[in-house]
Amino acid sequence: YERFNVAIDGPAGAGKSTVARLVARKLSYIYVDTGAMYRAITWYMIRKGISYLDEEQVDQVVRDLMIELIPEQDVQKVLINGEDITPHIRSLQVSGQVSQYSKLKGVRTRLSDLQREMALRKGVVMDGRDIGTTVLPDAEVKIFMTASVEERALRRYNELRDAEQVTLQQLEHDIAERDRLDEGREISPLRRAEDAILLDTTFMDINQVVEAIVSHCRTHV
Ligand code: C5P
Repeated sequence: YERFNVAIDGPAGAGKSTVARLVARKLSYIYVDTGAMYRAITWYMIRKGISYLDEEQVDQVVRDLMIELIPEQDVQKVLINGEDITPHIRSLQVSGQVSQYSKLKGVRTRLSDLQREMALRKGVVMDGRDIGTTVLPDAEVKIFMTASVEERALRRYNELRDAEQVTLQQLEHDIAERDRLDEGREISPLRRAEDAILLDTTFMDINQVVEAIVSHCRTHV
């Protein structure tokens, strides 16, 4: 059968990356974590001391950056100019600023172009905020995954609590704020594509979500 592309969008902490990785594994497709790419740029800019307020400089620097995603066994590695920066991209500092860099036109154009290139030969499961609407509007399968803010904060908390000093309340606040910025930005805001299937995962576990998506993929093709 013909290979196809799967777009999975939704707000922060909905479990998209865990689910997308498992769906890709089941289909023997390639998983592309676009959030990791925005996070990598954010981390790089912070390290270079380039503020998101200096859009001109961000644009200029982002044009020459080499960004690579390397699929590994469990985590996806992200390299910037050949340097593996995967361990840094999930920090609270990066999470706290990523939406500010992500709204910039130069950043979005550069990453969307790269992402389209990665999906050209099909057989990709890509997760993010604007995949179904902007990056791959022709994706054969589109899913919009949500869950309540409380549930999303709880999932993140369980992931992060060993690595960072953080309270559930703080995470709830951070996630709500990131959603607000991602939904409110001018260029390709977080939004369900009209033809995307809405999947509220508040009361579903990971396997149920994966099964729902994979069985939808089967009926589709
Ligand atoms: O998915 P994740 O939480 O890692 O994404 C981090 C941030 O990257 C999002 O909050 C959003 O600001 C940005 N992003 C985006 N477009 C995408 C993927 C992520 O703007 N396709």
